[in-house]
Amino acid sequence: MKHAKQPYTGTVSKLCLDILKQPHTLIAGATGSGKSVLINSLIYTALFDSPNKTQFILIDPKRVELIDYKLLPHTIAYSSEPSDISRTITKAVKLMDSRYADMQKRHIKHYDGSDIYIIVDEFADLMTTQKRETLPTLCRIAQLGRAAGIHLILATQRPTRDIINGQIKVNIDSRVALRCPTKQDSRNIINTGGAELLPRYGSGYYLTPDTMTPVLVDIPMTNPTEINCIISHWTRKTHRF
Ligand SMILES: Nc1ncnc2c1ncn2[C@@H]1O[C@H](COP(=O)(O)OP(=O)(O)OP(=O)(O)O)[C@@H](O)[C@H]1O
Ligand SMILES: [Mg+2]
Repeated sequence: MKHAKQPYTGTVSKLCLDILKQPHTLIAGATGSGKSVLINSLIYTALFDSPNKTQFILIDPKRVELIDYKLLPHTIAYSSEPSDISRTITKAVKLMDSRYADMQKRHIKHYDGSDIYIIVDEFADLMTTQKRETLPTLCRIAQLGRAAGIHLILATQRPTRDIINGQIKVNIDSRVALRCPTKQDSRNIINTGGAELLPRYGSGYYLTPDTMTPVLVDIPMTNPTEINCIISHWTRKTHRF
C-alpha cells in the first residue's frame, strides 16, 4: 500500500494518550503481564507527533526491549550498557537544568518546547546494576521534570521499596498496575489490593490524581506491523539517500 500524505492509519488508545499527558508514570506487574506491550503502545502513540514535539530517551537494561526505536529521529539517546546508562541519565538532568535556566530567563513557569519521555524497561534491572549511579539523578528528574516537560515512564516487575524508593514514588503519581503476584504488590503500586486478581494480561488498574481511585482499563496491544510502519515512516523521512 502506498502512503502519500497519511503515512499510517492506526488508531491510538485513550489510555495511552492520557498516560502521555501525565508528568510521570509507573507501570508495574509480574513477568508476562504486559509492561513491554504497554510501553510499545505508548511509544507508538507518541510517534503520531513529530520529533519537534515528542522526544525519547530510551533506557533498555534488558538490551532488546527498546532497540527497535533507536534510530528514530525522536530518540535523542538510547542506552543499554550499564556505563552508558548512567552517563545518559546525567545528560538528561543537565538538559533539564538548561531548560530551567531558559525558563528563568524568559520568566515562564512551564517549558514550551518538546516533551521528552525517559522510558526505562526494566527499572528493577537498572536498580540492581546501577542504583548508586542513577538513583540520585532519577530522583531529581522525578521531582523537577514536570515543569520542564521531562517525563519518566518506568516499567518494573518489582514495585517494592528496595526498587522504587519513597522519593521517586511520591513524585510518580500516575500508576498502572498489571497482574501482579500478591496483594501486597498491588498495594505497592495502587495503594490497594486488586491487581493480583487481574487476568494474566490485557487489563490493568490505572490510578492518577484525576481518577482518585484505581480504574479498571483495557491495556492496548499494538500490532507489530503497525509499529514497524510508523518506525519506517519516520526513519525514511530522516535517512533520505
Ligand atoms: N494487552 C495485551 N493484549 C494481548 N496480549 C498481551 C497483552 N499484554 C501482554 N500480552 C501477551 O503477553 C506477552 C508478554 O507481554 P510483555 O512482554 O509485555 O510482558 P512483560 O510484563 O513486559 O514481561 P517481562 O517482565 O518478562 O518483561 C506478550 O508477548 C503478549 O503475547
Ligand atoms: Mg518486559
